[in-house]
Amino acid sequence: MSYYQVKNLEQYFKHYNKSIREPRKFWDKIADENFTWYQKWDKVVEFDMQEAEVKWFLNAKVNITKNCIDRHLAKRGEKTAIIFEPNDPKEEAQHITYNELYDRVAKMANVLRDQGIKKGDRVCIYLPMIPELAVSVLACARIGAIHSVVFAGFSASAVTARINDSDCKMVITSDGGFRGSKSIDLKVIIDEALEKSPSVEKVLVVKRTNASVNIKEGRDIWLQPLLDAAVPNNVAEIMDAEDPLFILYTSGSTGKPKGMLHTTAGYMVFSAYTFKNIFNYEENDVFWCTADIGWITGHSYILYGPLLNGATTVIFEGIPSYPDFGRFWEVIDKHKVTQFYTAPTAIRSLAKENTDWVENHDLSTLKVIGSVGEPINEEAWHWYNNHVGKKRCPVVDTWWQTETGGIMISPLPFVTPTKPTYATFPLPGVQAVLMDERRNEIEDNQVVGSLCIKFPWPGMARTIWGDHQRFKETYFTAFPGKYFTGDGALRDEVGYYRITGRVDDVVIVSGHNLGTAPIEDAINEHPAVAESAIVGFPHDIKGNALYGFIILKESGESRDRANLANEINQHVSSHIGPIAKLDKIQFVTGLPKTRSGKIMRRILRKIAEGDYSNFGDTSTLLNPEIVEEIKQGKL
Ligand code: WT7
Repeated sequence: MSYYQVKNLEQYFKHYNKSIREPRKFWDKIADENFTWYQKWDKVVEFDMQEAEVKWFLNAKVNITKNCIDRHLAKRGEKTAIIFEPNDPKEEAQHITYNELYDRVAKMANVLRDQGIKKGDRVCIYLPMIPELAVSVLACARIGAIHSVVFAGFSASAVTARINDSDCKMVITSDGGFRGSKSIDLKVIIDEALEKSPSVEKVLVVKRTNASVNIKEGRDIWLQPLLDAAVPNNVAEIMDAEDPLFILYTSGSTGKPKGMLHTTAGYMVFSAYTFKNIFNYEENDVFWCTADIGWITGHSYILYGPLLNGATTVIFEGIPSYPDFGRFWEVIDKHKVTQFYTAPTAIRSLAKENTDWVENHDLSTLKVIGSVGEPINEEAWHWYNNHVGKKRCPVVDTWWQTETGGIMISPLPFVTPTKPTYATFPLPGVQAVLMDERRNEIEDNQVVGSLCIKFPWPGMARTIWGDHQRFKETYFTAFPGKYFTGDGALRDEVGYYRITGRVDDVVIVSGHNLGTAPIEDAINEHPAVAESAIVGFPHDIKGNALYGFIILKESGESRDRANLANEINQHVSSHIGPIAKLDKIQFVTGLPKTRSGKIMRRILRKIAEGDYSNFGDTSTLLNPEIVEEIKQGKL
């Protein structure tokens, strides 16, 4: 592998400037030198940012799994590709070598083909964090099927919505999954989800918890016997650079979840390049990202990025607090982890426990520690730096999105001096800019603005599945010709970026991107509810928590409020998932609305935060008196 790695800040600036002057040459070299292709590209990039049309490595032919697995076999066949650390520390960890991974993926790919899955078909994967999840994802990529991994914490109706949106032909699931002291019966959830998902023809079931499951004749099949009968050899599908690789759903500020579509070659190049550089990856490192593969972080930095680099990657089934608050540190110690990548919400929850939990384990193998998912507050940053990194491991605060495919703004370890709460500089190849309210690019430093990217990068999503218009409107119209991230940012005097948060109606709760609209939709379905508005408010551990302002129907008025609040939360859990629970519910008689009928969320946000000092301009409100009433109701 010969991705160039910068050694100091001077080299960073040099490479960064070069990558902006000659982006084609920059990406051409990286793609050329680090991957195996059936056929190389005619053209590096072709784009129209007004129309949201982007193509990378045109007409190149490749299969990402040949790059993740096959090409490593000669030199690294007996090297561990995946370390599986089960939920229960008493269950033995598994070490899966690249040779074994090849066999398992080949068999699974053959099973998928036997079951009628072809290139371009969508396969929904709803599995806990077990090796079969990795194998299923890679097997789809092997045969050109488009994987749509749905986080196994989503409820049946959320699964239905995602399956139906992309007409999945198959679901791969398990009897259940372990999470701390609980087990969750995933197959039961899938059975319910499929009552309303007519496109699904087959369900493959992995055995994990031994929970009893209902096997529907003709539709459901236990996976293991099929694998046992399959041959461990598989010829990979030859994919075009722009053939879809996967769909991953992310919440939007309006309407249904957005199926972000990532394509083959660009995503491959970008996830591999960012992994290598941001984590300073070297042969024999053991990399651990604690995210779930159901999120983009897991796609790019548990699976694709590490495997493309021939790395050893940890898949952890459990949670940070089981069986005790030392679990993360025990696992680092046990597997001699060299790079650790987690989320601020996990850091905050562990930082409030006794530091003995950390100090009792040997973390001396660590070289780089990372954070992702939401802004990391100063206190959490210092705790992470002091107690986990022992002030010798650079903290990489990595900013990116499901849509960007990989990390965009982050310190480079041992190159960029870190600064708490700052994601610092964009990576070479990433043209970040700040825009002012008049849609002009801000050239100065020490400013705040809307964060945009002004030139395409290989890892960017290409569209929203089935709705290119929405893709264009969401990301490419606010600042014509540029990709708008939806985030606000501050740029300091040296050009470091600090992400200040979303500027739209998305709230990040415990690192999960929750659109307010789907939650409001779920609440409004409750028979006692007339209307609702959700906003985020600061929370010590979760970063943000959800605050719901709810108007009741007349029929609901007589109900006991505490019971109703419980019921509404159960309703939200069953429609979206437990992660979407409201921390506070306030019943109100009206919501502040503009003359055009839009809820003025900025006022609700202030009330939720307990900041009554300045509501700004309320002159456009139709019902200004309601503001005082809501405020009084809260006090
Ligand atoms: C949103 C994307 C891909 C990461 C997992 C979340 C917020 C992400 C940071 C960070 C401040 C961050 C942004 C972004 N975010 N990382 N280091 N500092 N904010 O992916 O669910 O698509 O959410 O997460 O607001 O837009 P996602």
